[in-house]
Amino acid sequence: MSGNTNGQSSAGPATLITNIGELMTQDLECRVLKDAAVVIEGERIAWVGSSKDAPPADQRVDAEGRAVLPGWVDSHSHLVFAGDRTAEFEARMAGQSYSAGGIAVTTDATRSVSDQELTCLVRERVAEAVSQGTTYLESKTGYGLDVKNEARSARIAAAEVDEVTYLGAHLVPAGSDPEEYTDLVCGPMLDAVLPHVRWADVFCERGAFTEDQSRRVLLAARDAGLGLRVHGNQLGEGPGVALAVEFAAASVDHVNYLSDKDISALAGTWAGWDPATGQGTKGTTATCLPACDLSTRQPLAPGRELIDAGVQIALAANCNPGTSYTSSMAFCVTTAVLQMHLSVHEAVRAATYGGALALGRESGNDVDGERAVGSLAVGHRADLHMLKAPSATHLAYRPGIPLTHGVWRAGVRVV
Ligand code: NIG
Repeated sequence: MSGNTNGQSSAGPATLITNIGELMTQDLECRVLKDAAVVIEGERIAWVGSSKDAPPADQRVDAEGRAVLPGWVDSHSHLVFAGDRTAEFEARMAGQSYSAGGIAVTTDATRSVSDQELTCLVRERVAEAVSQGTTYLESKTGYGLDVKNEARSARIAAAEVDEVTYLGAHLVPAGSDPEEYTDLVCGPMLDAVLPHVRWADVFCERGAFTEDQSRRVLLAARDAGLGLRVHGNQLGEGPGVALAVEFAAASVDHVNYLSDKDISALAGTWAGWDPATGQGTKGTTATCLPACDLSTRQPLAPGRELIDAGVQIALAANCNPGTSYTSSMAFCVTTAVLQMHLSVHEAVRAATYGGALALGRESGNDVDGERAVGSLAVGHRADLHMLKAPSATHLAYRPGIPLTHGVWRAGVRVV
């Protein structure tokens, strides 16, 4: 998954993908084009328009009427782990409720495998996600929970995924004093992961980190120059969203239990941003994790209400062994349409452009060295997902059917 996504492309042969039945660009103009075409040059999109106007190219791919959308941007996962938690899942399905304590089971299993085994496990999970249309992927640490193992998780993740988030503040290990452990997270552990990570996160929840401890983690991470995100309001109302807003975090994730005050605080963060131009001050993206909500039998996050209030949302798979053992973004999109009352366009947007917003990768151009992901427009990274279907509506209309036909990542066909 890692690769050079920066700078001018070494253009290479141009590929024309033509006869696209429906092209959902998810760019600022939110275009949905019929009988469309795209030209890829090197790692970038060089042209988007109608099939009949398409320029010549070195190679031609006939989409035969299939739909094309941006590759999924999965902005929340926990891929660096060993072991599984089937027994915990079975107990939950029999009526037990989820608690953060299960994280310790995965931490023990993760610490017990070699670097090579852990790398292979992460690589397999990345491959599974890519095979289903994911082209940009974040992973957290958080199953190491000591200096050596968090640094190892961060290093392995950095070699395998696009964005790495430090989550030393996932659980206070058994036998540790919570305040002393928080000092470790804010000090030596942070120093050890710093070369490998761009973001920091904290699980601000009962059974995990208190508001004060979470604030300390966010302050230390901000001082270290990391972007911030918060796991918040997953198991009940709490201070997570307010903290994320206070720290202008890039995202607050889970957001199952929101008060009216939480929703208006999140909406307030977007008041100075214009979705039509992408200009202004960006707010805190609310990342909804529907597969996790179903697997933990929590109420689905109020995605509809958030969008209606003016909050930008992302959808992410949250692949992890405890609460959401899936990398299927399509499943999340399907659920968002069928159960959260998003339109297909809104759900696909949240799983592409929304994820890019949450990761600060929604904009960029040919000259600044950082290509936009999550949307299809000239100069953006050529991350495309071709469906075995004539329209994106089939993602919801045909739930559970694997609909990935082709995947291009940074201009290279990988599926
Ligand atoms: O995002 N909520 C915290 N972290 C994970 C679950 C971790 C686990 O139980 O292993 C999540 O759902």
